[in-house]
Amino acid sequence: MKAAGYSLWAVGASLAIFTTGALAQDNSITATPTVTARPTLPVSKTWPTASAPTYPDQPRDTQESPSFPDPEYVKLLDYTLLFFEAQRSGKLPPDQRITWRNDSALNDGKDVGIDLSGGYYDAGDYLKFIFPLTFALSQTCWGGLEFYEGYQLADETKYLDQMVRWGMDWLIKAHPNNNTLFVQVGVSEVDNNYWGPDTHIPLPRNSFQVNNTHPGTDVMADAAAAFASCSMLYRDKLNDTAYANILQTHAESLFRLAETATPQQVYQTVVPAVTCCYASSDFVDELAWGAAWMYKLTKNTLYAQKAARYIDQLNIRSVQTSPVTWDDKCGIVYILMAGATVGTVDNNEKWQGLAEEFAQVTVDAPKPCSFTKDGSSISASAQENIDRYRSFALGQINYLLGANPLKTPYIVGVHHNSPINPHSAPASGGISVDSIDTFPEKETYTIYGALVGGPDKNDRFEDHRSDWRQNEVALDYNAPFNGLMAYQVMTSKLSPPYVTIPAGRPDLPPILNGMEVWQIILIVIGSIFVAVAIGAIVCYRKREQIRTWAAARKQGRVDNNANKHSMKNLSGPHNRNNQEAVVSNLAAPPPLPNGQERAQSQGQRPVPAPPLPSRNGPILLEDAQRM
Ligand SMILES: *[C@@H]1O[C@H](CO)[C@@H](O)[C@H](O)[C@H]1NC(C)=O
Ligand SMILES: *[C@@H]1O[C@H](CO)[C@@H](O)[C@H](O)[C@H]1NC(C)=O
Ligand SMILES: *[C@@H]1O[C@H](CO)[C@@H](O)[C@H](O)[C@H]1NC(C)=O
Ligand SMILES: *[C@@H]1O[C@H](CO)[C@@H](O)[C@H](O)[C@H]1NC(C)=O
Repeated sequence: MKAAGYSLWAVGASLAIFTTGALAQDNSITATPTVTARPTLPVSKTWPTASAPTYPDQPRDTQESPSFPDPEYVKLLDYTLLFFEAQRSGKLPPDQRITWRNDSALNDGKDVGIDLSGGYYDAGDYLKFIFPLTFALSQTCWGGLEFYEGYQLADETKYLDQMVRWGMDWLIKAHPNNNTLFVQVGVSEVDNNYWGPDTHIPLPRNSFQVNNTHPGTDVMADAAAAFASCSMLYRDKLNDTAYANILQTHAESLFRLAETATPQQVYQTVVPAVTCCYASSDFVDELAWGAAWMYKLTKNTLYAQKAARYIDQLNIRSVQTSPVTWDDKCGIVYILMAGATVGTVDNNEKWQGLAEEFAQVTVDAPKPCSFTKDGSSISASAQENIDRYRSFALGQINYLLGANPLKTPYIVGVHHNSPINPHSAPASGGISVDSIDTFPEKETYTIYGALVGGPDKNDRFEDHRSDWRQNEVALDYNAPFNGLMAYQVMTSKLSPPYVTIPAGRPDLPPILNGMEVWQIILIVIGSIFVAVAIGAIVCYRKREQIRTWAAARKQGRVDNNANKHSMKNLSGPHNRNNQEAVVSNLAAPPPLPNGQERAQSQGQRPVPAPPLPSRNGPILLEDAQRM
């Protein structure tokens, strides 16, 4: 039923921010808190989390923050972590804040004789997947390491800890011994036919694994990265050394398994069930990503060499332009390594260069993905580049939070214009797939902090529950948002754009074939003009023949043969072809984005989604697979 579609690419923004850190030439952060004059107030969190949201009647006059840290960004950071509470599976703890959720799927793992209850539901349904979860956890832990101060300022470290621990505790269960990793619980064919409460999740819920005899190299290495990054968070920031050590043991074990279990292969080879939703397109980028985190965690040069070797192995001639997703880690390997190798002998220059190129390509994405109005050149100074990456990142954040043609923050529960029909079975209160849009009339619960799939490439968005492409919620794109909001708490002097936006979405002109009506009219007029112009040119070029022909016509009665000959010349195939070529050029589809073209022509990994940011802002992932 669902296989992901348009998703606002929050990762893009986080990348750019992380990049600014990587390029800052020291190992410390990046974000320079820009606010000093404003009063620092104790954070009061009085917003409703169970009942229907209420919003101020009047928008504010200004985006300027009333205090530091900005209360709206504090709220957004709280909400995005709250979203993960709404996604919890298993036995819920007494301090669960999302009280409309129930204990669920307590028998997961029974089919294989172990306890696999717990963890997070992946998206708007009740399936559990490792691959997007490990991506979500490494993104969150990386964001936690980089922007820890934001969590502290917002008084959210406790919830960061809870969010990560809930995932890690389950990953530990899913890795019951050195040779085994469970990668999916639940059956998509069964689950996709169910739309109802968490109390009646349908059976069977099979558990699927990869192991030393049936390897899934990508998912093993990706899980190693998640364990390693979160181990660092517990070691360096959350001060739980014992837990950090446990996580490190799992990271080492999984990375070794990924490197040694043969044949090395993508995991859907042995677990075809995942092809419904999260098939992987390659495993070498995950090996590089795993090695990069093992390096950052242990500072062992061997891992840096491995990361470099895997990246070289990807045989990339120039830096990939594809955005980072749960499936594609190249860009974040560059950025992570650029930061981690500062001041070491581990070839910082190589990684800095790759990271800078990747950031540059992201910011300067080819049309229609152009973000820079000034067209500033690549030879800008390092500081100028850092400023450009940062403002690119802020542009993405602002788009997500309302600075877009529909004046819509794509976060549930923060504004009148927020989506009210997110595709989430538990939040909807629905009871049947057949009445998904109509019953209940209003979504029963507000799933605060959920980022929905988002608008299409024309900035259009339909708030229908059945539209999983635009409206589904999911772990993998909410996770980078965690770090971004922590960054905003640390640095922003402004509130999010939606604070000044009045209730109500503006009507945008309709779209036909991906174009607005005025564009179509323009093209029709343009085509007529071109046709007329060609006609004129042809007539001009053939003016001698035309004269001859006209003269011949006059003489027609006298000389019939000459007349026929000239006519033939004028309407010959050459001229007709010219016109056809012009018309078919107009109708030709735009060329593939660079990354995809290259991938296809070189037989490399098919890029899952063309990196097509919408004209006004976010990078979009069209047709990426997902539940
Ligand atoms: C939790 O259980 C209650 C009582 O059965 C039910 O009304 C509610 O819808 C359930 N919550 C979800 C998310 O299904
Ligand atoms: C290893 O994984 C494969 C594929 O999931 C599975 O068929 C096999 O039973 C597993 N081996 C063991 C010993 O569990
Ligand atoms: C961990 O310890 C550091 C240094 O003592 C401190 O700054 C930080 O707040 C502590 N973190 C937690 C979660 O207690
Ligand atoms: C499992 O892997 C860990 C970490 O690599 C290692 O310390 C441990 O000895 C291994 N356990 C077994 C039973 O092989």
